[in-house]
Amino acid sequence: MTYQNLITEVKENILYITINREKALNALNKETLKELAHVIQFAGDTAEVRGVILTGSGEKAFVAGADIKEFSDYDASQGEQLARDGQATVFNAIENSPKPFIAAINGFALGGGLELAMACHIRIASDQAKLGLPEVTLGLIPGYGGTQRLTQLVGKGKAIEMIITAGMIPATDAEKIGLVNYVVPQADLISKAEEILNLVKLRAPLAVAGAIRAVVASLDGQNGYNVEIESFGKCFDTADFKEGTSAFVEKRKPVFSGK
Ligand code: CAA
Repeated sequence: MTYQNLITEVKENILYITINREKALNALNKETLKELAHVIQFAGDTAEVRGVILTGSGEKAFVAGADIKEFSDYDASQGEQLARDGQATVFNAIENSPKPFIAAINGFALGGGLELAMACHIRIASDQAKLGLPEVTLGLIPGYGGTQRLTQLVGKGKAIEMIITAGMIPATDAEKIGLVNYVVPQADLISKAEEILNLVKLRAPLAVAGAIRAVVASLDGQNGYNVEIESFGKCFDTADFKEGTSAFVEKRKPVFSGK
């Protein structure tokens, strides 16, 4: 896979995606979104990939938002289309992926950048990172799911405060309000993400996917309890369930096949 705006690599069952537009603080232009949509699909379809680490190039920014220069002359219908397409092909696609995505937030995560991190299943921030949804400074509101996912993560009061003041918060504050899972020194960002995915890699792949599906269902208007019941039931037909329970009884470590 070769991309113009992404650096990607699969190593030891982890797909590393680096958004590589450092000069524009990794802002999400159309091409980058298109490439992200492609690599997200690849992650979902490729058995070798057990988890994904998403980060930005350089030490200054994870992603400083959607590319403002690209949409400055849009009208209402173009704006709506931008949000609709982006949400479907990138942001919702990450959230609904069967593979766990970890955002390694290496600097500014603003607007669409924070929305991208929030679409991921887990967020780890560098102690240098700053996070916010500054769209109202541009006469906009968040369009890539930010109003919904920030509310889910930090609650209505904090979400409204952050969005309508356009306030930018340091990583340590983001951890306190549940917006990020961990804050680590910049140098430890990727290794912390790897530590988590290395644990996930020991677990049953279809069960991991089912668990993500059920948790996400609790937040997107579906009946999460029903999704959990169905996903739980499906596990019983998997080879991994037989392997997991046999390994328990035989007092050995399971070797899962993802089938
Ligand atoms: N879009 C396009 N270009 C961007 C960008 C963005 N979101 N953010 C930064 N850049 C570009 C700058 O234009 C600049 O390019 P030039 O050198 O060609 O002028 C380069 O990146 C470096 O940026 P700055 O010179 O501004 O760097 P700074 O250190 O002075 O400031 C910053 C850093 C505070 C992050 C500032 O760049 C900034 O405020 N960026 C915009 C943040 C923002 O408003 N994001 C929301 C975008 S709208 C959105 O995301 C909509 C949505 O929900 C769908």
